[in-house]
Amino acid sequence: MAIDLAIVPVAGHGTRLLPSTKSQPKEMLPVGRKPVVQYVVEELASSGMRRILFVTGPGKTSIENHFDINVELISVLRETGKEELLEELEFERKDLQYFYTRQRRQLGLGHAVLCAQPLAGREPVVVALGDSIIGLNAQSDIVRRMTDEFERADADAVIAFETVLREDVVHYGIAKPRVGSNSWSESPTLGEVFVLDDLIEKPAVAEAPSNLAVAARYVFKPAIFDLLAQTPPGKGGEIQLTDAIRLMIQKGGKVLGLQLPASERRFDIGNFESYFQAFVEFALADPRYGPALRDFLRVHLGQEHRPC
Ligand code: G1P
Repeated sequence: MAIDLAIVPVAGHGTRLLPSTKSQPKEMLPVGRKPVVQYVVEELASSGMRRILFVTGPGKTSIENHFDINVELISVLRETGKEELLEELEFERKDLQYFYTRQRRQLGLGHAVLCAQPLAGREPVVVALGDSIIGLNAQSDIVRRMTDEFERADADAVIAFETVLREDVVHYGIAKPRVGSNSWSESPTLGEVFVLDDLIEKPAVAEAPSNLAVAARYVFKPAIFDLLAQTPPGKGGEIQLTDAIRLMIQKGGKVLGLQLPASERRFDIGNFESYFQAFVEFALADPRYGPALRDFLRVHLGQEHRPC
């Protein structure tokens, strides 16, 4: 049976984006014209996912509202002659089923994924972090390529990776690829699959086995849930998904990495620096508003650098 269930953890407080996230989820912040989580869902739908399970927390109900069909809004648009705006609500009609469960205590990403077990049962699942967009305008089928590889190789897990600067490894799960499992050690080849010998959550720079960082998309056999249930709190006192994957490797599981090609960069909406960059890139790429913004920025930046 094709994998069609995606778990989307969205329970985090978004503390690095305060005060914007005081009373709204970071996943609902706009990037260009859409909220972050809409890109994530559209990407998952285009990779064949049909059931989306959000693991939510306090203050996240606007995510549920966003994916509902808003009959009242539709009739207001019709009655006031704004039919052209109905197109903006097309995403509501996607052939998807939404499920919501609450992570009642903030015990970490691993714990959030474990909260999804009752729905997932004994099926393989995709996990897609709700604060990361893959590819400009989410034009990426990375999840489909990952599920294809998962099935082809009969893997226990397939994880997306991106290369990061050496000093940034402290923010990510970092891979120890098996030497010789591809050509990464000589010259990293984007888009390639490699075998993982280990995975370490947010290592110190000196201890990082590579600069290949987990990039917010995973595919798992259901064994991940049993492993998560056995995983003790790790980094930050939280139950880390990375530690459960590590356990999977230690128990002889086949865990593969897939490197994101340059055309499918990860846009991280977890902090202001990368959020601002993502917003500007998406806004500039907008077919309607991008060209005017480009002109505006040209003038604006030109003025800043004009000598007095
Ligand atoms: C989480 C994971 C980490 C991963 C990162 C980006 O960290 O724990 O392994 O590299 O997402 O996908 P967080 O950003 O929640 O601190």
